Amino acid sequence: MCGIVGYIGWREAAPVLVGGLKSLEYRGYDSFGVATGTDSIMVAKRKGRISEQADCVSGCHGTRGIGHTRWATHGLPDDRNAHPHTDCTGQFAIVHNGIIENYAELRRGLEGRCHRFTSDTDSEVIAHLIEEAWEGDFAAAVRAVLPLLEGSYAILAVCAGSDEVIAARERSPLVIGLGDDEFFACSDSTPIVEYTRNIMVLEDGDLVVMRRGAVAVENGGETVVRETTYIDYDIEASRKGGFEHFMLKEIFEQPDVFQQSFRLACTHQGISMLLSRARGVSVIACGTSYNAALLFRYFAEKECGVPVRVDLASEYRYLSTPDDEIVIAVSQSGETADTLSALKKAVASSCPTIAITNVQGSSITRAADHTIYTGAGPEISVAATKSYMGQFAAFVGLLAGMNCSDMSAVERSVRQVIEESLLTDVSEAVSLCAKASTIFYVGRGIFYPVALEGALKMKEISYIHAEGYAAGEIKHGPFALLSEETPAVAVCMPGDGYQSMLGNLREMKARGTPLIGIGYGDDIDLQDVADVCIPVPKGDAYAQVAAVTVIMQRIAYYTALALGQDIDKPRNLAKSVTVE
Ligand code: M6R
Repeated sequence: MCGIVGYIGWREAAPVLVGGLKSLEYRGYDSFGVATGTDSIMVAKRKGRISEQADCVSGCHGTRGIGHTRWATHGLPDDRNAHPHTDCTGQFAIVHNGIIENYAELRRGLEGRCHRFTSDTDSEVIAHLIEEAWEGDFAAAVRAVLPLLEGSYAILAVCAGSDEVIAARERSPLVIGLGDDEFFACSDSTPIVEYTRNIMVLEDGDLVVMRRGAVAVENGGETVVRETTYIDYDIEASRKGGFEHFMLKEIFEQPDVFQQSFRLACTHQGISMLLSRARGVSVIACGTSYNAALLFRYFAEKECGVPVRVDLASEYRYLSTPDDEIVIAVSQSGETADTLSALKKAVASSCPTIAITNVQGSSITRAADHTIYTGAGPEISVAATKSYMGQFAAFVGLLAGMNCSDMSAVERSVRQVIEESLLTDVSEAVSLCAKASTIFYVGRGIFYPVALEGALKMKEISYIHAEGYAAGEIKHGPFALLSEETPAVAVCMPGDGYQSMLGNLREMKARGTPLIGIGYGDDIDLQDVADVCIPVPKGDAYAQVAAVTVIMQRIAYYTALALGQDIDKPRNLAKSVTVE
């Protein structure tokens, strides 16, 4: 994880770096730092968030520099471990995103050769190795160090006395922005689009030497040319637009996101045909994207008769998977390390592969045979909301193609119920949840994944322990935890499993559990058993899923708000998880 940014050109570098790091904070935000200068290197770094203490870089001058916002992997989140890291002499400064797996061995060697370390990070070895390799040519020194590093990295480096910024990539994202007599190097294009839309996406093994007016890419010692892509990015969409938090703004964008993503997916008729004829489909994803993938399983198996397995991307490598399945990798960021490695495993097994992602040009789009973009627009809040809706819509669009059915009525009904669910009163549920230290989320069938997602949202932004369960499973252990102190959010919609669900609610009620029932407003049986009822607008199964999802997102949001939590940047998390 972590975000890195580099600049070389004609502007003062520090403000560019600070602006860039602020927009990369979603990748990690426990500490930050920048290094600038030409004749000598000035470093400023600190624990905490750059958005709250950007003035600490006021002593850093010059028209080139590098910066970093950290999500700690090695060493506490404190000033010492913040990047940039320097060598013993202070001549070289580096920032790094990724993990140097052999750092302990490298560090022992360096310490044995009298290098003094000032941090506990894996990254610092890079600066000392460059120091050792230095024979007067900065690029040559970095080039000599890269083969010594095992693991993943996106590295930016500067050297006192050199007019270059050097970038290198191996299994960590890094893009170069090509401006007018200026260059940017960043973990993703977000910080760059303000200056230029021309982006060069680097590949593993690339080393880039940037000078004022010239950029050169090499790989394995050979000069290479990387394609320049024009990035279509809505800067306005990445601002809060009057909402208190990005999360709330993004929740409110969901009617449009559903429609846009559904329509985009409907244009992929060829992929739908491929899926409908598949012997099996395997979907790999993490977190919220995994929960969206589970929804696809329920709908595709029931409505199209296509067997779908859904695996956590982080477990996929341990499984023996058939090589005649179509593999779909789902990832908002397109950079999640576990999803990317699972996808690469599928590619290596010669499975046809499809990426569903929200980020243009992201790593999974380059690894997969086909890409379907969700039309969610930039999602800034760490808690995924509209991207989940976009993924769900993409799956619905694919299902329409698989079934050869016109689902424009579904598109309209989903949009409408999302709009209505944005206004549903959830205050009583929030009051119950805000007092709890554990909350259960239960549902059956298509509402089981929705319950998982509701619980994930609640725990990540409110810090209340929340567990999603298939309602039928809760008797098999979790019942031991039920009491008046453990509310349950239960989805009880007419249709498959309705009576069983009501039975489950009664059993929970008998154990004292305060029940928040989510179902139809005219359901008197639900009203009988639930302490609080939240009405869901009526609609088809897709509309129900969308409506309940929005209601659960809002319960989580307002509970976190009531508890005064840092909603857009919850503790210990990062938006893009680029380490395994
Ligand atoms: O970018 P991805 O969709 O691959 O991210 C996967 C998870 O890290 C992500 O969905 C995470 O669970 C969300 N922050 C939860 O809100």
